[in-house]
Amino acid sequence: MKFLGSTVLVAAMLASASFVAASGHNDVHAPALRRHNSHHHNHKKSSCSASAGAGGKKTHKNKKSSSDNGAAASATNNAAKNAAKDFAKSSSSSSSSSEEHSAKSSSSSESSSSSSSSSSSSSSSSSPNKKGGKAGLCWANANGIPIDNFMGGDVSWAYSWSDTPGWDGFPIDELMYCPMLWGYKNEATFKKNVVQNQNGKFNKHKCAMGMNEVNQKGQSIMSAAEGCKLMRENLMPLKDNGWYIIGPSTTNAPDGKTWYQDFQKTCPDVFNKIDAIALHYYATDVNDFKKYIQDWHETFGKDLWITEFACQNFSGGAQCSKDEAWQFGQTITSWMNSQSYVKGFSPFAVLQDLQGVSEVNRLSNGNNPTSLFRMLTGAL
Ligand SMILES: *[C@@H]1O[C@H](CO)[C@@H](O)[C@H](O)[C@H]1NC(C)=O
Repeated sequence: MKFLGSTVLVAAMLASASFVAASGHNDVHAPALRRHNSHHHNHKKSSCSASAGAGGKKTHKNKKSSSDNGAAASATNNAAKNAAKDFAKSSSSSSSSSEEHSAKSSSSSESSSSSSSSSSSSSSSSSPNKKGGKAGLCWANANGIPIDNFMGGDVSWAYSWSDTPGWDGFPIDELMYCPMLWGYKNEATFKKNVVQNQNGKFNKHKCAMGMNEVNQKGQSIMSAAEGCKLMRENLMPLKDNGWYIIGPSTTNAPDGKTWYQDFQKTCPDVFNKIDAIALHYYATDVNDFKKYIQDWHETFGKDLWITEFACQNFSGGAQCSKDEAWQFGQTITSWMNSQSYVKGFSPFAVLQDLQGVSEVNRLSNGNNPTSLFRMLTGAL
């Protein structure tokens, strides 16, 4: 979903901005907010992640209109605003993140087994996620809902479509947090909060993500050459210090793969150094989803993180029924858990307002996870 991505991002930024304001920090997120205002507000789509929505929709099966995208973005914005409001209301930063647990040592899934085909990128290192489970949170709520309620099962990591989690109480010792260079809109704050603050508390896991849906209008859309420059300037300095770098994400529209092929060709120095690629996927056929993931792995030889996905048709077709969404999610998460080259996955959206994404994908009700969320994350 294209829109999702941006939307979410915006939401996250809004939430974090409000948090920041509340806490007396500075305005790091201001630029993002401003941008946000300029977004379109139409469409629907959701947002867990910022980008997934649109791409997904368009994608794959029908390359349909890009109009959907806009919708998603706007949805996100609203979500962000709501999250920000909630956050402000509950200003107490309660999250008691107890410290610790960090490593459950169990990490079974983490074996850094590199997968098969990947010959090309040799630089990959094992994931810095030491907790074990592959499931993660697309978390744009800041402190608006209690993250502790979503940390059961295999949940071991989170991202926020931004360069900070958005509130000071994020349980950084319990969840691996990966800051994201969403695109140009947060380049300045990414430099400040990540590149120039590598030992900051939210950077302790040394994991960072590239741009959100680089092939999607309404998201971070840019050429491979532009992406090359952004990655080289902002993510490679981290890589040089041993960070784990997840490359830009794309939607599952056909131009996502061609974007990466261009990137590989025009930016081999960066391409070869990234540890993994992020994918977003929105469609309804789980076998197509598996094939899509396998194809990316075979084509690029990289480990993969599926950082937004939902059982969703963004092209005007029928949506999944509740049962179909359950089956889709159960099948794909179980399969991803068994693929060594899939290092992480985060279903779209722990958000109250799904902004256009079908309700059958709902992961939270108020402060609580739905049974779908718990199933997807191994907490059922
Ligand atoms: C969405 O529905 C349309 C219309 O039925 C169909 O052509 C398309 O393949 C579907 N797309 C996805 C991604 O499932």
